[in-house]
Amino acid sequence: MAGIHRLFFALWPGDALRSTIADVARDMLSSIGRGRTTRADRLHMTLQFLGDFRAPADVVERAMAAAGSIEPPTSFDLALDQLGSFGGGRVAWLGTSAPPAELVELHRRLGRALEACGLRTEHADPFVPHVTLARNLRETAEGAVPALHWQVRGFVLVDSTAGEYRILGHWPLPARDVSRGYRSPAVR
Ligand code: 2AM
Repeated sequence: MAGIHRLFFALWPGDALRSTIADVARDMLSSIGRGRTTRADRLHMTLQFLGDFRAPADVVERAMAAAGSIEPPTSFDLALDQLGSFGGGRVAWLGTSAPPAELVELHRRLGRALEACGLRTEHADPFVPHVTLARNLRETAEGAVPALHWQVRGFVLVDSTAGEYRILGHWPLPARDVSRGYRSPAVR
């Protein structure tokens, strides 16, 4: 466990969605020129960022305890339909024009639980859910894009060290109650 460990909670796309997001990143970059796309196997949406640690064992233990302590929101669908940027256009991301309530709740509950476990989180206020597509850009494309649909069924704790991402834990979200909102077909 030598070196610096960057720890964060994230939503982790499945392989098919991951490669589609990578295509969006490549297309975006080819339309605007210079920059560096995020490697496909690292694409993710950060929920809570814990920081960089030399000796992460205690933080990992607390973070796992925090994640296990929350009442998780139900699983949800997320439409990635918006290109945006940070840093005056140097970082381009794919996000959503309509963050689902479950996503906002997951971010909030996780943040509170981490604090209760004695961990500080670093976050931008307000929470801008995004998947970073590319960095070191001179300009960026912004605006609506055809939606990619992400069926979010859980979240993960990631350890980024020496350029590699390792999933340390996975927490599923309970299924939505499909009977809610169901209307019986009209009887003729
Ligand atoms: P980014 O995608 O917007 O750069 C791993 O580096 C993850 O942690 C990335 O998703 C990154 O967000 C996020 N991250 C890095 N530093 C951060 C910070 N100080 N506050 C919040 N998130 C951060």
